[in-house]
Amino acid sequence: MKLNNKIQLFKVRNTPGISKKIEKVFRSGEITEGKYSRDFEDKLCNYFQNNNCVLVNSATSALTLAYRLIGLKKNDEVLVTPLTCMATNQPLNNIGVKLKFVDIDKNTGNISLNDLKKKISAKTRAISFVHWAGNPVDLIELKKITKKYKIPIIEDAAHSFGATLRNKKIGTFNNFTIFSFQAIKHITTGDGGMLICPNSIIANRARKLRWFGLNRNFKGNKWKQDIKESGYKFHMNNISSVIGIEQLKNIDKILSIHRKNATYYNNFISNKKIQLLKFNKEASYWIFSLLVDNKKKFISYLNKKNISCDEVHIRNDKYSVFKKFYNPNLKNMNYFEKHMVNIPVGWWLTKKEIKQITKVINKY
Ligand SMILES: Cc1ncc(COP(=O)(O)O)c(C=O)c1O
Repeated sequence: MKLNNKIQLFKVRNTPGISKKIEKVFRSGEITEGKYSRDFEDKLCNYFQNNNCVLVNSATSALTLAYRLIGLKKNDEVLVTPLTCMATNQPLNNIGVKLKFVDIDKNTGNISLNDLKKKISAKTRAISFVHWAGNPVDLIELKKITKKYKIPIIEDAAHSFGATLRNKKIGTFNNFTIFSFQAIKHITTGDGGMLICPNSIIANRARKLRWFGLNRNFKGNKWKQDIKESGYKFHMNNISSVIGIEQLKNIDKILSIHRKNATYYNNFISNKKIQLLKFNKEASYWIFSLLVDNKKKFISYLNKKNISCDEVHIRNDKYSVFKKFYNPNLKNMNYFEKHMVNIPVGWWLTKKEIKQITKVINKY
């Protein structure tokens, strides 16, 4: 549970009996893509009640694939959020896309739909954003804004496995949606990810692109299959997949603990120096973000009390690789940059620890 007696911000989730399952895959001799990857993909399709789930080896691969499927080209303009992992924006940068950073919402840290309304234009080729901390962006309102432009939407749901919006799972709003199964996510496969496509034609193209442009279900002489579109090696292997199958089994319980812990914070953090964000109750709460008076002081205070606390992601437009797109006028982003921190909220925390964290914060 604890490293150096400290309450961790993240923890890798283990599942009972996993070593035996992994050994079985090894012994089968089929350790790359195969039976278990197909099974995991089927189970994910079932979880999302959506057959357009495409399993890959990371969320970064899924994002790369989504941008490719949309057909983004050099100098295309894409509206993005600065507050996310660089993985949302780097694959765009690699294409040579012009990134237009949109401000964030001061209540959530999500892309600001008000600023997006001002920045969207006939030049916009796509919109890509994260559901920050697992707190869903208002996709219904977003759809109203984008309707007349018919622009592809890419939801980075790396923080949001199991989050819903008006009882509908994130991943089922007919956009491109990306999930991560990296080490410290709700579901881990070591490394791994998934892309949910808006329809079956795109999903089938994605499945080919993830394996060099080849159809893995090709019936007939496989050496006669032509490659019509150059692809990638983005598949998930059987070892990661068998871990994923086990992880998925108790995801509902895991999510309910994250939500219960967050509800406790929302009800009992009462320090006037702390501003709580507006979380939708349907969020998956990968992290719990707070706005504090003095970020450095607060982090150091919690660390002294053996509680991990961190920024988690740095605003992307401050990295040198994105410098030419930097926008100094993103008022809310500028504020979050100075004041936002994240505290532990996940399944590994005991009731006692959640109470202890709350008490420590209220005494700050
Ligand atoms: C918002 C977001 N997008 C994408 C990624 C990249 O995920 P992966 O490591 O699976 O490529 C992360 C990883 O932390 C993330 O937080």
